[in-house]
Amino acid sequence: MEACELRNKFLNFFKERGHTIIDSASVVPENDPTCLFTTAGMHPLVPYLLGEDHPGGSRVANVQKCVRTGDIEEVGDDVHLTFFEMLGNWSFGDYFKKEAINWSYEFLTSSEFLNLPIEKLAVSVFAGDDDAPFDSEAYDMWKELGIADGRIAKLGKKDNWWGPAGQTGPCGPDTEMFYWVGEEPAPEVFDPENKLWVEIWNNVFMQYNKTADGNFVPLEQTNVDTGMGVERVTAILQGKSTPYETILFAPLFDKLSEMATEEVTSSNVSARIVVEHIRSATFMLADGVVPGNVDQAYVLRRLIRRSVNEARKLGVDGEFASAIAQVVIENYGSFYTELERNKEVIIEEMQREEQQFKTTLEKGLKEFYKMINAIPPHIKKKVVAGRKAFNLYETYGFPLELTIEMAEAEGFTVDIDGYNKSLKKHQELSRKGAEQKFKGGLADDSEQSARLHTATHLLHEALRQVLGDHVAQKGSNITAERLRFDFTHPEKMTKEEVQKVEELVNAQIAANHPIGFENVTVEEAKAQGAIGLFEAKYGEVVKMYSMGGFSKEICGGPHAATTGELGVFKIKKEQSSSRGVRRIKAVLLPAEEK
Ligand code: ALA
Repeated sequence: MEACELRNKFLNFFKERGHTIIDSASVVPENDPTCLFTTAGMHPLVPYLLGEDHPGGSRVANVQKCVRTGDIEEVGDDVHLTFFEMLGNWSFGDYFKKEAINWSYEFLTSSEFLNLPIEKLAVSVFAGDDDAPFDSEAYDMWKELGIADGRIAKLGKKDNWWGPAGQTGPCGPDTEMFYWVGEEPAPEVFDPENKLWVEIWNNVFMQYNKTADGNFVPLEQTNVDTGMGVERVTAILQGKSTPYETILFAPLFDKLSEMATEEVTSSNVSARIVVEHIRSATFMLADGVVPGNVDQAYVLRRLIRRSVNEARKLGVDGEFASAIAQVVIENYGSFYTELERNKEVIIEEMQREEQQFKTTLEKGLKEFYKMINAIPPHIKKKVVAGRKAFNLYETYGFPLELTIEMAEAEGFTVDIDGYNKSLKKHQELSRKGAEQKFKGGLADDSEQSARLHTATHLLHEALRQVLGDHVAQKGSNITAERLRFDFTHPEKMTKEEVQKVEELVNAQIAANHPIGFENVTVEEAKAQGAIGLFEAKYGEVVKMYSMGGFSKEICGGPHAATTGELGVFKIKKEQSSSRGVRRIKAVLLPAEEK
């Protein structure tokens, strides 16, 4: 069965059972700066799992584009992918375990649908612990459907519990379905440790809310959240041991093969990384991410750059990324129409990033030979210093293995310990930088810094009112003298726009609003329309600052007591920071200097 048939069968099955079919949300979570990417089908649906009414009703189903980059270094093995599609059906306070389990079973085994033999199926259910009891309902339902005792494993939280996505929030026991992929007949007793049992579907019964004090309180609305990976199931249905051997990847390998001098097979690790990463990058570009140096943009850049490095190992000389993206668009475009719609941008950005990275690599190459040639020939110990190897990586994107390869060709070795030391030092500095960002980018805790920080809240809202809702904070840096605020906006602001923003901020200062905060959960804050650059997780309690109904923002930094004490807000500079990001520098003048 091909992936398009699988998607259609799944959606039709649930449509016939009263579900509204909804579109996949973007791979970039909307209104959720707590996560870079959509990681599961339930992710865009959290508000509805918490009780908000869904416009499609209480039963929905879809195919969701997901990105998980936590295991990016593992890509190349049989199972890890940074992009995958998840089939899911949901009940928001509607049906519960019985229907969910019966339908999963029917869809998997019925000859009308996946037609998987019951002899090859096993399941697991939650065994129970101090927080919640053994899920005897799920256990009994599977038995009633004919799954033998030995094929039902009872497992703990580590295996059979899903959520909350953050520290607190909806969660519950789940039941997972496994399929035997071994050559031999499936063993009578299901051993979850045996890798030949492959997990194919997860049904989560969200019946608890984990509270901040660590308790599991039964939810009033019980929900169902399910997830089945398209790539994995396609492999099973096509009798393959990895998604790379399926029709989903075959045309991508074919294209790569045309451009490579080395042999390209579906088991070659470099080839897998290239096609997997370009597939992921194509979907990110279709959803509006462009390569850059922070957040999603940086992940995208990393995916394309890793592909360039791996393609080089296969002897790919010319431009390849856009050619593979083109095949992704052809293969997925009829289902994900955003690919076709954004084709030009995808191809253009892919070409630009590949070119730019190759130019950087060339500069690095020159740097490398300059460094080698600077070592006098009589020096016997031919070693590239770790610091230098790290610099090649940091500045020119040279992976360590490339430096080693080039060094060896010149009769040099590389000080790998030294490289690792430099890398560690760099990571430590980045971590400190991230903590600084979390503190609101404040350099000190003076009163004037608190006032300037307060002004960034007003500025952020004023920019959104004048330029539009696309404005989002990309960073801020504050000293006692000035504020610096980076935000997304495609073009230079006009004089009039700058003036309008100043006026709006100064009007709020003149209104002398008292500044207060409430402790709320991220969901409540979002429901109230709060904005803010924050790194809190679902359900986490955060401080939401309000200023006279003008600005509501989640923030942990220090603030002034009233807007009146800010003085006069003046924008000193409006300039480009990076592509699509503008930077404002502004000051607060004493009121008499008006
Ligand atoms: N949310 C569940 C998962 O991702 C279904 O496995």
